[in-house]
Order: sequence, then structure tokens, then C-alpha cells
Amino acid sequence: MNNFDENNEFVKRPSNNTQAGQQTPQRRVATGDIRRPNNAPQSNREQIRRPAQSNSNTKKQAPQAYSQKAHTPKIKKENLKIKSSDMLRNILIFIAMLAGLLIIGFSLLLSSLYVAPEKVKANYTYIYDGKTEFSSVVVNKVLYMNMTELSDMCNFIVSGSKDCLRYTVDNGEFAEFTVGSASAKINADIVNMEGAALVRENENVWIPLSFAESYISGLDIQYDEEHNTISINRQELSGSTKDNPFYSKITFRIKGSQTLDGIKEDTDIGAVTTPDFINDLSEYEQYMDPQNRDDYLILVNKTSHIDENYLPENLVSITNVRKDGRKEQMVECAEKALQALFIEMKSAGYTDVSVTSGYRSYNKQSSLFNTYLQRERANNPSLTLEDAKEIVLTYSAFPGTSEHQTGLCVDMHNLSSADVSFANKAAYTWLKENCYKFGFVIRFPEDKVDITGYSFEPWHYRFVGRYHATRMYNLGMCLEEYVDYLSRAEEH
Ligand code: DAL
Ligand code: ZN
Repeated sequence: MNNFDENNEFVKRPSNNTQAGQQTPQRRVATGDIRRPNNAPQSNREQIRRPAQSNSNTKKQAPQAYSQKAHTPKIKKENLKIKSSDMLRNILIFIAMLAGLLIIGFSLLLSSLYVAPEKVKANYTYIYDGKTEFSSVVVNKVLYMNMTELSDMCNFIVSGSKDCLRYTVDNGEFAEFTVGSASAKINADIVNMEGAALVRENENVWIPLSFAESYISGLDIQYDEEHNTISINRQELSGSTKDNPFYSKITFRIKGSQTLDGIKEDTDIGAVTTPDFINDLSEYEQYMDPQNRDDYLILVNKTSHIDENYLPENLVSITNVRKDGRKEQMVECAEKALQALFIEMKSAGYTDVSVTSGYRSYNKQSSLFNTYLQRERANNPSLTLEDAKEIVLTYSAFPGTSEHQTGLCVDMHNLSSADVSFANKAAYTWLKENCYKFGFVIRFPEDKVDITGYSFEPWHYRFVGRYHATRMYNLGMCLEEYVDYLSRAEEH
């Protein structure tokens, strides 16, 4: 069955399994945020060569200036000559010694600041239990492992909520992770992880690999640097065979009441360096990463409405609109950031994407919504108005609940009309992996349908600025989750 999209274009209706309120099936595939693997072995600090020792004999040759007082003037004059050449030599020796000391001090200072570069690998493949494979996830240089997969492999009992998950082993010991927090609970203790727990596609929880290495016993974690793989298996006991395997018990190494280092919460999950762009986008930096970054976090959804009369300030024409005379508008800062995205996207080879919808007034949304309602009923005359409305609400916002009215989002794709099949296009993959660098997020992701209340929209991009977009990308959160996460973080 088909619908009109937000621009009165005819589109395929999203498949049933992505409708609001339905759980996304737990698929065991996650695409990794592969930026910098860092399980490289700790590099040795640079060897410091000490400068050669100053020749201690030189000190003995230092002139004895005042011992010459008793000599005749002539002799004195000669001595004075000797004295001045000795003094010159002494000064030179002194300067050389001083320079030597300075070099030693400077070398020591540099060596204390120097951190050897990590060995950078493009990717690691995790192999769990010899079969299930995942691409590694690296966030802020921390290598992560998929806790959901590990839990399946080790038959942990999983309890808690989506934001705070507890994994319990046979003997009752547990590890608990809060999404977005670098603190983990192990039984009665709290430990600090290298990075915050994250949620990735299909609601899989990812935690720093070093947590497993430090605190979970009974696991066998093997790095294969040659093949870029990390194998995670349960440790087999002697007598174990392929057909009849025996495994050692999985336990957590901390048993409670242990003195641990003070907790240092990781607030830096969004720390980003300026991305490596193909083009010089420096003039767009102020827009992609705006100073007033919290101003772009406005949340408009089914429960958080926008006033009928709300009109965003600074609406400007969108540059990269479809070449059919379309005139679309957007808030200036977001539009400039979008220009940068298009410059880079085109350089990456994706030249056929264009914007089909930007700012929409309350009245425009109202008229769109009614068009969809009529279309649904025309396609299926047995539908009551309420039934039709329920269907439309899975893909189009009721007037006063669409973030298109904020002027901070666009629909863009390279199809004749917006369709979920855009997700199969290489241009979408590029957008998905790069849009956060320009300050945009996918507003209605495939695995957040139960939270956003809308079916997957691979074409709808929302501007929140690079800082928040990066944090959302790293944490694996949609806007609803992220705003909630921020408010919880403020409470603490
Ligand atoms: N399609 C999105 C949900 C909107 O109408 O705003
Ligand atoms: Zn949209």
C-alpha cells in the first residue's frame, strides 16, 4: 500500500513491522562506529638519551682570580691577559653546562608529556563463541565490546530497564551498566570504566572491552593482530571436547567491599575534534558546531507540542533543493551546516541527493495530514476516520507536533519520492555515518520506532549541532532518549 509523502508525493507505506508501538526485532547485526581501534599494546615511552656528562676537569681549570693580587704590575698585566682568556673559557664552559642542563630538563619534560601514538587499525572483527561476528566499535579511542552478545553467549540473566541493565551470573553475582555512564556496578562496588556504556543498533549494549578484561573471569579474549580479529570465548576446562564442552564458571572479579579508586564520571562522550573533511569547510565551522549549542535541542514530538503560531527566526532559503522550482526554507544556522554537508557529500561521490522538504507551517502540516487521511480512506474505504488517523500517525505528525515547524529539519533523498528504500542506497550509508559531523541526526531511526512513535524515515535529518549530534551518535540515542539522558544527568 502506498501513501503520499510530506510533499504530496506518492510513496510506499512503511512495512508493518516498523509501525509505531511495535518492538524492533532483536537482530544480531551491528554496524560499528569504526574510528580508531585502540587495543594496541601499551607503547613504550620514548627512550631518553641523556646528554653526555660535562667534563668535570674543566672545573679544575677555572681561573683563581684573586690569587694574582701579590704580583708586579707587569706580571699583573700578563696575568690579567691570562685571567681574561680564562674567564672567557669559564664563561663558555658555564654556558655549555647550562645548555646541557636545559637540554636534559627539556627532554625530561617532553618525555613526560609524550604519549606514543596508538597503533591504528582500520577495523577489528569480534568473533564471539567462534561464530557470531561484529565490527568493532571505537568511541573516543576506547575499544568497545558487545555486552548483549556476550550475555547471550554466557547465558547471563538480564534484568533492569532499557537504560540500566543488570547481567547476573549463576552464583548471583552481577554487573550493572547505565547507558551513558562510565560507572558500572559490580555486586556491592562501583567501578570506573574507560568510557560510558552505549546502546547501538538493535538495542545492543556496548561496554569498553577493558571492563571484560579486568573484571570478568572465565573468558578467553584473544587478539589476532594479523587478521584484525578479537575472539571472545568461554574458557574451556580440561576434558572438554568439541561435542561435549565444559566451561569454567563466569564470575566477576570484584566480590564487594573492595577499596577502589574514586569515581570519575565520563562527561566527555561527545568530545570531538574537527573532522577530517575533504574540503576546507572552516567558514562553516561556526554553523556546524554553534556556540549556543543547547538552543538547537528543542524537542517536538507526539507529547511535546509546538505552538500553532510558532514561527522560527532567521528562516532562509535552502540551497540544495530539488531542481523543480521548489522553495524550501530552514533556520539559517542549520541551513549553512547543511550546505557544508552537501559540499562534502558531493565530494564523496553522492551528487543526486536533494532536499524535498524543510520548514512547514502549522497550516501546511495540517493540510498534509488531511491529504494523507483522505488517501488512506480512499485506498481502504472500510477504514473509520479513527483507524485511518491511527495509520497516518505512524508516518506523519499531527499539526502542532511536527518538528518541520521548528525549521531545524529537512527531508532529503535521491528517490522520486521519500521511501524507506532510500536506506538501501549508498548515499544513505554515507549520511548515516557522517551527518553528525555537520550537526545532524537521523531523527526517526529504524531501531527507535517504539520511542519516536514513527516508522523509520531514512530521509529525515534534524539539526542539533555537532556537539550534541556526536554525543547522540556515540551513545546510540535518538532525540527523546538524549533529552531524557541530559535531564537525568543534570539531576545528579
Ligand atoms: N514525518 C514526520 C514525522 C513529520 O510529519 O513531521
Ligand atoms: Zn520529515
